[in-house]
Amino acid sequence: MKKIKLKVPATVANMVCGFDILGMAVHDPYDEMEFRLLETPEIIIKHTDLFGLPEEPSGNVAGVVLLKMQESLNLKNGFEVIIHKHIKPGSGLGSSAASAAGAAFGANALLGNPLSKEEVVHFAMFGEELASGVRHADNIAPCIYGGITLVKSTSPMDIIPLNSPDLFVTAVHPQVEVKTSDARQILKKNITLKSAVEQWGNIAGLVAGIEKNDFSLIGRSLNDVIIEPIRSILIPKFDEIKTKSLQLGALGGGISGSGPSIFMLSEKKETAEKIAQMMQSAYDEIDIESFVYVSKINPAGIQIVEEA
Ligand code: HSE
Repeated sequence: MKKIKLKVPATVANMVCGFDILGMAVHDPYDEMEFRLLETPEIIIKHTDLFGLPEEPSGNVAGVVLLKMQESLNLKNGFEVIIHKHIKPGSGLGSSAASAAGAAFGANALLGNPLSKEEVVHFAMFGEELASGVRHADNIAPCIYGGITLVKSTSPMDIIPLNSPDLFVTAVHPQVEVKTSDARQILKKNITLKSAVEQWGNIAGLVAGIEKNDFSLIGRSLNDVIIEPIRSILIPKFDEIKTKSLQLGALGGGISGSGPSIFMLSEKKETAEKIAQMMQSAYDEIDIESFVYVSKINPAGIQIVEEA
């Protein structure tokens, strides 16, 4: 194989209560990445979008992943990568993770898959580190594994793919800027034992609900007493959107990753679409442009759509 094209999905990190450990892949939005294996050790990155992301490999999220793989695996080959980015950077929908995970997955595929999924995650994390300053894998893991993943630990790497319930995800991306680094900076460094116990209950309940396809338990567990009360202040209309989504029948939801996107889970497509309309109207009312996406949880993750 000399050339491949990937479809790389957006991801929702944290899933409300699982800060830095839980995440899920969705179908929409997604990036497309075209790879060519080169005989020379060059790394060439090209973007066809207008986001103005750096193309110099050492300053590019996909580029640093490929440089690291080249160095660690002693590769003589290089790669050309053309990125068609549709997941907006800074949306909270795993845009940087898509580039990082896509780079590691694509290079591994072109090399004949010498790496395990956990090793692919390991290399992708260097891209996430460049983007946000932190080597977390809660977007990268579901992007690569598909569905919902639990990152039990990144050192040593211990990733548990969970069940993928048949649920709809509505996500809204209001056009306000929330940098992941800022959204991490404002968090409290210490929490009370009472909050920790409540959060453990929610995380355990959510994982049990996901594994048992118990939608009521999933809904009751989508609560975050630690991060959301602080970060939601950065997102206009967060409380209103959450309250109205629950009134319209959402199981629950909250901030997607570090925001500003908000996501909600619903059993029925009809409910998910009503929530999407409500979200868009809420932002129209205050003249904030927004993009909404409705799709199912994506059990497959990154897919090869063309190869030659
Ligand atoms: N878990 C991360 C955070 C996801 O919430 O900061 C952001 O990419």
